[in-house]
Amino acid sequence: MRILITGGSGFLGWNLLQHFKDTHHILGTFGRHRPEDAGGEFIHLDIRDAVEVRRVVRSVGPDIIIHTAAMTSPAECMRNKNLAREINLSGTENIARAAKEEKARLIFISTDRVFGGEKGDYRETDPTGPRGHYGETKLLGEEIVKRIASNYIILRLPLMYGPSSPFSSSFLGFMLDGFRDNKTLELFQDQFRTPLYVEDAGRGIELLLDRPELTGLYHLGGRERIDRCDFGYRMAETFGFEPSVIRPTLMTDKRDIPPTPADATLNSNKFFSATGFRGRNVNEGLLALKLKYSLLFGSDKCW
Ligand SMILES: NC(=O)c1ccc[n+]([C@@H]2O[C@H](COP(=O)([O-])OP(=O)(O)OC[C@H]3O[C@@H](n4cnc5c(N)ncnc54)[C@H](OP(=O)(O)O)[C@@H]3O)[C@@H](O)[C@H]2O)c1
Repeated sequence: MRILITGGSGFLGWNLLQHFKDTHHILGTFGRHRPEDAGGEFIHLDIRDAVEVRRVVRSVGPDIIIHTAAMTSPAECMRNKNLAREINLSGTENIARAAKEEKARLIFISTDRVFGGEKGDYRETDPTGPRGHYGETKLLGEEIVKRIASNYIILRLPLMYGPSSPFSSSFLGFMLDGFRDNKTLELFQDQFRTPLYVEDAGRGIELLLDRPELTGLYHLGGRERIDRCDFGYRMAETFGFEPSVIRPTLMTDKRDIPPTPADATLNSNKFFSATGFRGRNVNEGLLALKLKYSLLFGSDKCW
């Protein structure tokens, strides 16, 4: 299968490229950051440029486009609302139109941040209500995909963790820095997620590739609901870090962070029943990551 991954230089796109590179014909796109040693083909593409998007998609002729490229920092989206709209709305519109023209199936990656976070355990049928500009633009991106694309999946993913791309890391990067440098890590006890090991995102998407009849909206969260502080303690335990650097903190006491859902946990039963997928829980995911690091670097240290 020919797969075009937008945002191949980013955390998720990079990991998906690694996941699929031995089994499919893969091409990744990059915006400002050109990966040098990518283990796959790469092409420059600014998704805001409709003409360029059409040209690239036509020349690649993909069976599937996995659209991960986005402005992803909630703080940056708040600071630069116009740019966030250009990338997350116009960019998505360009990709959706090109996918339709080329009769490619589109997998649009969305986020748990389309929810307000008041109740958690969100199903696909639950009302949305993003709390910041990032979530708003991703939700509007979903609407654009529904309106324009003819063959699509909208896949809402939760907070993910895993190996960094050359230019972008998951939230683990910030924690690793803290543990490594013995810096206090303020971790929220009142922010709940269903974190997903990024390799499981790849495994889940792989199942979608084999099931062309599946369309529409799906959640793919991890198996476990956990707060960020507990996640930090599990990380310390798995990797042998000193847990005393963790300072349990309440998000509600903080004034200087962008609006963030308290409980954006995803209920993924629809995806699990449709595909038979069963991902790892947090301990299993962290152990798998530790093993991956030891294979990559010959040690279970992540730096
Ligand atoms: N990471 C998570 O935990 C998480 C959770 C839920 C959903 N998601 C979703 O997953 C997707 C990927 O997230 P991520 O964490 O991998 O993000 P990331 O590391 O910030 O990567 C973003 C990617 O988008 C590309 N990009 C940005 N602006 C572009 C433009 N104008 N034209 C072309 N490419 C552009 C970047 O390319 P350059 O760097 O080369 O410019 C980069 O490859 C996003 O859609 C996000 O909403 C992520």
